[in-house]
Amino acid sequence: MVSRFNDFNLIKELIMTTEYPTLLQINASLFAGQGQSSQLSNAFVQRWQQENPHGQVVVRDLGSDPLPHFDGEYLSALSTPAEQRSATQAARVALADQLIAELKAAQVLVLGVPMYNFGVPSQLKAWIDYVARAGATFRYGANGPEGLAGDRPTLIFATRGGQYRDTSADSQTPYLRTFLNFIGIHDIEFVYAEGLARQDRQQASLQQAHQQAAEWLASERATQPLAA
Ligand SMILES: Cc1cc2nc3c(=O)[nH]c(=O)nc-3n(C[C@H](O)[C@H](O)[C@H](O)COP(=O)(O)O)c2cc1C
Repeated sequence: MVSRFNDFNLIKELIMTTEYPTLLQINASLFAGQGQSSQLSNAFVQRWQQENPHGQVVVRDLGSDPLPHFDGEYLSALSTPAEQRSATQAARVALADQLIAELKAAQVLVLGVPMYNFGVPSQLKAWIDYVARAGATFRYGANGPEGLAGDRPTLIFATRGGQYRDTSADSQTPYLRTFLNFIGIHDIEFVYAEGLARQDRQQASLQQAHQQAAEWLASERATQPLAA
């Protein structure tokens, strides 16, 4: 009887302490699910889900469900004491709180990032602006800036009509790397699909991107626990 009681407690404890991984997927294409970056990231997330059947996927499709523009009204709401915020202000801050919570809870981060006019889509810039919050995802300490978001394997699908990788015209890669490093994310892999405007390159480029993503998943980095 004692032994059965202990078994029961052990199983209960195991269930309570088992953490299934959570993957946060941020798609930024204006074409929502039809976007080339979204299709690459969706295919990856589907494979990840097969490998992690108990894993949870949280999706933010910024093309079909854009965030409100990051503006002065939001900053004013954020700097207003919580008990003095209007309902509108409270809702703006609650949305940003939610975005930050989703990011911090994710063991794996996947971004679908098309190049638009040499930069990241403004929808993604809005997400970045909301999750960059002093005291929540970064702080300035005695040794300068310190990321507070926690490191996690991060896969970025970068799709482009032209070819800009490793050139000074690729403003996306250094920008995203700098921002993610700033909030504490260093384990980053870029998967490029370039030359998509060229019919003769498109298929091979997408195929290569799928292949690189599959290899990344197979390396099991994607299932490592969140670093403390
Ligand atoms: C508004 C717009 C701007 C674009 N600007 C660029 C650009 O500056 N450089 C580039 O290589 N491709 C550019 N493209 C092509 C896209 O990067 C390419 O089609 C990419 O695959 C789009 O990804 P998506 O289908 O996920 O949105 C642009 C496309 C659009 C719609």
